[in-house]
Amino acid sequence: MNTIKIMIDGLETEVVKGTTVLEAARDQGINIPSLCYLKGVNHSSSCRVCVVEVGPRLIASCTLIAEEGMKILTNTKKVRDARRTSVELLLSDHDRECLSCSRGGGCELQTVSNDLNIRKVTYTGEQSSREKDYTSPAILRDASKCILCGRCVGACGTVQTVGAIGFAKRGFDTVISTAFGRSLAESTCVNCGQCIMACPVGALTEHENISDVWNAIADPGKYVVVQTAPAVRVALGEEFGMPVGTRTTGKMVAALRRLGFDKVFDTNFGADLTIMEEGTELLSRLSSGQNLPLMTSCCPGWVKFMEHNFPDMLDNLSTCKSPHEMEGAVIKSYVAGKLGIDPQNIVVVSIMPCTAKKFEGAREELSHENMQDVDWVLTTRELAAMIKEAGIDFANLKDEAFDNPLGIGSGAGAIFGTTGGVAEAALRTVFELTSGKPLDTVEYTVVRGMSGIKENTIELPDGKQIRTAVVHGLGNARRLMEAMQRGEKSYDFMEVMACAGGCITGGGQPIVDAKTSEKIDIKAARAKAIYSEDEAQTIRKSHNNPFIKVLYEEFLGEPNGHLAHELLHTHYTVRSKY
Ligand code: FES
Repeated sequence: MNTIKIMIDGLETEVVKGTTVLEAARDQGINIPSLCYLKGVNHSSSCRVCVVEVGPRLIASCTLIAEEGMKILTNTKKVRDARRTSVELLLSDHDRECLSCSRGGGCELQTVSNDLNIRKVTYTGEQSSREKDYTSPAILRDASKCILCGRCVGACGTVQTVGAIGFAKRGFDTVISTAFGRSLAESTCVNCGQCIMACPVGALTEHENISDVWNAIADPGKYVVVQTAPAVRVALGEEFGMPVGTRTTGKMVAALRRLGFDKVFDTNFGADLTIMEEGTELLSRLSSGQNLPLMTSCCPGWVKFMEHNFPDMLDNLSTCKSPHEMEGAVIKSYVAGKLGIDPQNIVVVSIMPCTAKKFEGAREELSHENMQDVDWVLTTRELAAMIKEAGIDFANLKDEAFDNPLGIGSGAGAIFGTTGGVAEAALRTVFELTSGKPLDTVEYTVVRGMSGIKENTIELPDGKQIRTAVVHGLGNARRLMEAMQRGEKSYDFMEVMACAGGCITGGGQPIVDAKTSEKIDIKAARAKAIYSEDEAQTIRKSHNNPFIKVLYEEFLGEPNGHLAHELLHTHYTVRSKY
């Protein structure tokens, strides 16, 4: 028998063996509160907010596995008092400036506190560390808001295997810290922002650049161009109460125009350009046999992870800049010339699902003629905050189209936002360029789906075989890299995205609380929306994007040519492992 019978609050229920009491109760519609528990990320039972009564004992239900005949009480005075005491103790040492907290309205501690009917905090006394770390261009840490739940540590260490943060010191002095108490900027943090997504409170946030962008828009001497990544449009609506997986492309463009941007471009164009450059690079490496596998370089979390952990394989990374960086370089060269604007007066703003893009935007090597390719990176959440601040009724906006010339993106560019998307887009182009014939079907479904590691061998029309690995989540990437180092695995092409599911769950996307993420498959819903974007396009291959052709004819010359190398390619830096 794979099921067992238990009693919850006097009612018998049958559950699958291995189910926790928390899961069993929630399946019965009993809303046991929780804070430190985050499925698949943190199971430390440290907060004690989810306690239930089993016999004479109070036990944390999030890690208590149900046993045959177990009698569980979830709503006794003893249980309610214990939960309230735990939350009051957390509140007593918490910066309660809730009105100005970035997590206002989405704070799980506040929700639990309200649900437990806590109206005042009876405990007072010494307050612990109030340190704030603003050194990283991507992520801010505010210890005064930290409740030491450990969810960020689980996301960074267990899931991503980055391990940039962990518990330090003991007792009342316990803090979440980097190794040796360094600043986050000096640590091995790759800026993926999965710690922010895991944090139930406002202790971790992106390094906001909203006021920088407002200032640029208000400056009459600046021409402010915005571009938006494919994953933003399938998540932005969630910030305005729309269901997960709603496509809001047209509304997003309309909102960006109302915010005052001079041009609204699509990073899907930059993705098409990346495919032209990276596809050519792949074909060249396949024929030379050098630096294989070619590893994608679109994801800045993955790139920094490589720089810290696998420096002797940096030559395997594609030299292509990421799509928004390529697009920024084209805006400040070709587009500036077309518009007759001094590129020094152009400000490029990228709206990204990703906090690591902020670090990437500030990399010295991603510049040309002393100008950064991209000046500011805002996350999906920051864009939503600007739209709210401007009083724009997002849900009722009429759809508008991107500006041209960089507003045309193919369906292949659209799927960059999800795991497998870059590989699929590259295969569509590489296959056709090799065969000279149109593909019968453009969908390479073998690289789709949410398995952590997808391996396939794809045969090109000329008989060449491409051994492909598609990986998402840095923990999976590390496992694969180590297997390659041991000689157990070998490939020709590897797509890696740092976050589980790809950019759709990047660290800059709308935050989904722990309970909602158990009920809704966020990755699947957003990926479905991304594939619908692809299907809705008449152009579904990067090399068929008409403006890509114009750009090469009028300006760049040929893919991987001299000018393309100068503007669209980059190099990497060896960084410390510790
Ligand atoms: Fe169960 Fe914290 S101990 S949620």
